[in-house]
Amino acid sequence: MQHRRVFILLGVFFGLVFLFNLKGHHKQPGLRYSGGSLTGTPPNYDALREWEKNLPQHNVSLPYPEGRTGRYVKFSNQIRALGWNNVLNEILLCTHLAYESKRAYVFQDYYWKPEYYPWRITIMPWDDGPRWPQTPINALISGPTAGGPWDDGDPAPRSVSEAYFDEVCPPEDRDIIDTDTIKPGLIDAEGDVILKRWTEVIHDSPKRCVEIVAGHKDNFPQTFDLWLIGYTRLLSLWPIFKDSPTSRLFGTAPIVASAVDRNEYLFLPRGSRPPRYGPHSSYDRMMAVHVRRGDFEEACYGLARWNSTFYGWNQLPEHLDRFTPPPGGSWGENTPENIAFYLEHCYPNFDAIVEKIQDTKRAYIGNGTERVLDVMYLLTNADSAWVGKFKAVMMSQGWSTIVTSKDLVLDDEQMGVNMAVDMEIARKAAVFIGNGWSSFTSNIIHRRLVDGREPYANRFW
Ligand SMILES: *[C@@H]1O[C@H](CO)[C@@H](O)[C@H](O)[C@H]1NC(C)=O
Ligand SMILES: *[C@@H]1O[C@H](CO)[C@@H](O)[C@H](O)[C@H]1NC(C)=O
Ligand SMILES: *[C@@H]1O[C@H](CO)[C@@H](O)[C@H](O)[C@H]1NC(C)=O
Repeated sequence: MQHRRVFILLGVFFGLVFLFNLKGHHKQPGLRYSGGSLTGTPPNYDALREWEKNLPQHNVSLPYPEGRTGRYVKFSNQIRALGWNNVLNEILLCTHLAYESKRAYVFQDYYWKPEYYPWRITIMPWDDGPRWPQTPINALISGPTAGGPWDDGDPAPRSVSEAYFDEVCPPEDRDIIDTDTIKPGLIDAEGDVILKRWTEVIHDSPKRCVEIVAGHKDNFPQTFDLWLIGYTRLLSLWPIFKDSPTSRLFGTAPIVASAVDRNEYLFLPRGSRPPRYGPHSSYDRMMAVHVRRGDFEEACYGLARWNSTFYGWNQLPEHLDRFTPPPGGSWGENTPENIAFYLEHCYPNFDAIVEKIQDTKRAYIGNGTERVLDVMYLLTNADSAWVGKFKAVMMSQGWSTIVTSKDLVLDDEQMGVNMAVDMEIARKAAVFIGNGWSSFTSNIIHRRLVDGREPYANRFW
């Protein structure tokens, strides 16, 4: 258990530290800060909050299974103050569980890990640590999880807010279920078994309202926790989850889509007039690459020492680039050869990155007609010297347009969801190369698989 716990902490670390470019804070004597380097007033999404509050399902007069006689489930054990992508994969699975249990899912704000919030957070002298900034879920995603409609004709109740749940589910109508009463029977269980068991528990509760609360015996008291999502046991859920309405109807938030649209001019191919124009849409000629640099090397050593597999949907057998932990090593240690093997994939060097991009482009172009790839979107935390060198080499290899996250122009509401903006561009790109251990990559891969992308289009270093 100790082994796993350390490993999982590394996994959490990995999931968190992705694209955010942590700049130094301007220190003032006596005051402590967390968050990023932006010093203005963060967006409060007032208009969106008002809209969320007035969703049509927030109406006690609606007939069963909504309204005051309706059935609801709130997962109060959902993870908070972690990276967005650790939260996202969990809330999608919880939505599907609510759906199978024939109850309305209760959506909640996203609570930031303070260190990764773009704006500076002042820690008050009387506080132990920074507060957790909150973003309404509808700023980040759309679809049934966030209160959007189900398929035409589907009688499932729509998701509701926490405030509405509190109104329609007074304490006497609530069945409070502690995860400690269920999870010990599910240790090392397959994903589909976990879904089935929780569906019985939540569906069969005699109360109209169910609230799942975090048990104290468990450091990771989530319904679908990191022990599941970081292991191949997750994969038995894929056939069920992939085609579920939660997954199919999961969509891009309008604020995110607007951020992508306003920057679309940056993606227009800039090269000399080609012999053939190729696809008209810039996204159809785009490769998006997720390259983690900087302190990430340290995290990769940790993953190697603890023999970590790929994360989440990156582990699916249908991918061309798979990673099998090599034999050898011992508890918390691995052989130098094995560590080198991990780094090749987790922290590839400059030349390996260039080569992988060439090979990936060749394979993708070769599997169709009239395919052109000349636009690159680079998702990276690398320093500008690295990016400069990389751009020069890419330009020399026919990539006429190279855009990075830092080139995007965003207003405050869009800046507050910039990780989702990057993910949306990576979703739309014809080809994506990601990091197999990353939850950010896994959630992009989920959307791309639902979109029906071919194997040559979904690659890992
Ligand atoms: C609430 O639902 C009832 C029953 O469907 C409907 O008559 C009423 O107009 C709804 N209220 C609002 C504010 O939409
Ligand atoms: C890693 O996993 C492989 C395959 O399951 C196993 O052979 C090896 O001993 C493990 N190494 C460590 C360091 O636990
Ligand atoms: C090649 O293209 C075909 C037709 O679009 C597709 O079915 C197949 O999956 C592709 N192969 C790979 C390895 O992506």
